[in-house]
Amino acid sequence: VKIKLKIVIKVGGALFAQGIEKLVEDLEVISKEHQIIIVHGGGPQITELGKKLGTPAKYFDTPKGMTTRYTDENQLEIVKNALAGSVNKNIVEALRRKNINAFGFTGLDGGVIMANRKDKIMIINDKGKRQILRGEFSGKVNTVNTEIIEFLLEKQYLPVIGCMSCSETGDAVNVDGDRAAIAVAQAINADKFISLTDVEGVYKNMETKEIIPSMTDVEAENFIKNVSGGMKKKLFAAVEAIKSGVKEFIIYSGQVDNPISDILTNKKGTIISKN
Ligand SMILES: Nc1ncnc2c1ncn2[C@@H]1O[C@H](COP(=O)(O)OP(=O)(O)OP(=O)(O)O)[C@@H](O)[C@H]1O
Ligand SMILES: [Mg+2]
Repeated sequence: VKIKLKIVIKVGGALFAQGIEKLVEDLEVISKEHQIIIVHGGGPQITELGKKLGTPAKYFDTPKGMTTRYTDENQLEIVKNALAGSVNKNIVEALRRKNINAFGFTGLDGGVIMANRKDKIMIINDKGKRQILRGEFSGKVNTVNTEIIEFLLEKQYLPVIGCMSCSETGDAVNVDGDRAAIAVAQAINADKFISLTDVEGVYKNMETKEIIPSMTDVEAENFIKNVSGGMKKKLFAAVEAIKSGVKEFIIYSGQVDNPISDILTNKKGTIISKN
């Protein structure tokens, strides 16, 4: 008898942009054998819609040397349309076309993902000085209310959760997709956490594209300085997750054949785990 696993899959906006056909095909089989929960981001789609509407996203450098997106009220509207709207519904539609009983919503709905809103951000302005920007609508995940998710799983639905979250005062807030997904995985006691993106793992070297098969949280933390772009943020999230008790944080591509089966049977991608 096969053991039924609870698997949380984070579908990155980067992967969604490339197409989720391979994932959906795999889920046709996997979702019958295991309980699947999808949590998705939508960064590139938010950026694209902003451009299309003539209100492009603004990015700033932070004092910590990261790049941050400024989510003001206008951008929050775009988040609602792109992430909660188009991306979420397209994932649900792709799954339902394969007869998978997908149910889409966001962390805002029902207050499923509660976050602490950060209403201002510290940036480095074009004069190289620290500056505070107010009216920010992003935040950090605080708690996950599992009731709705457990109910859906019990009734054989596959929850598809956009990472937009709910603040204590009821505002919609944009949160990091990997962190939202990890928080969901921890709250529902998931057996596996997989962050599916558009690369097959953490590259040792951007030119050779050699994948690092496994890293401890300490190795991952030390490696962050060598990494740029979205992967840097993902490694921060992975280290934080392992330190808070998550057993494994798996990073793999959703563009290969049968990505989830491949991880379950062949241990593919980069596996970050405790020392
Ligand atoms: N050392 C590295 N190894 C692998 N990818 C890297 C590395 N350094 C930078 N990257 C970049 O990080 C990207 C993945 O992170 P990104 O945040 O863009 O994706 P995502 O988390 O799946 O999507 P989203 O944040 O929109 O949900 C890759 O496409 C790659 O270009
Ligand atoms: Mg990312």
